[in-house]
Amino acid sequence: MGFHKINITVNGGAEEVVVPSNMTLMRMLRESLALTGTKNGCSAGECGACTVLLNGEPVNSCMVLAAECDGAEVVTVEGLADEKQLTPIQQTVINEGGVQCGFCTPGILISSYALLERNPNPSEDEIREALVGNLCRCTGYTRIIEGVKEAAKMQPPAG
Ligand code: FES
Ligand code: FES
Repeated sequence: MGFHKINITVNGGAEEVVVPSNMTLMRMLRESLALTGTKNGCSAGECGACTVLLNGEPVNSCMVLAAECDGAEVVTVEGLADEKQLTPIQQTVINEGGVQCGFCTPGILISSYALLERNPNPSEDEIREALVGNLCRCTGYTRIIEGVKEAAKMQPPAG
């Protein structure tokens, strides 16, 4: 099996990592960089627990090869909070009771964060659409969606 040396920016920090050809971005984050906030639910692109931002777009990191990420910028759930201050989407999903077992939560937060970055005032349908690839077995989604709505209210007005 071949190995590749990649340079990648993760949560704002430059990293140089040697990865086997078949290592996914998810495994590299968890096993090489100890960023275990990114969860492995299915390893098959079905559950969204491994969602991270790759060059600003939410992706299932279990479906991306780490070797393809040379030069890329990645944000994981660990990168959302500013020092000890939770970002609004983290706080409001907690406040609304959208975290139960928490396994889906990192992926939900990344997908919601990406939605609010591109659409600061989403409708409920737009929130549901943005989260369609993130499965949650605990909450029934309603509390998560309320959390996203609350975070949207905290966004600064456009313009
Ligand atoms: S672990 Fe990647 S989509 Fe489920
Ligand atoms: S809170 Fe348990 S899977 Fe979503």
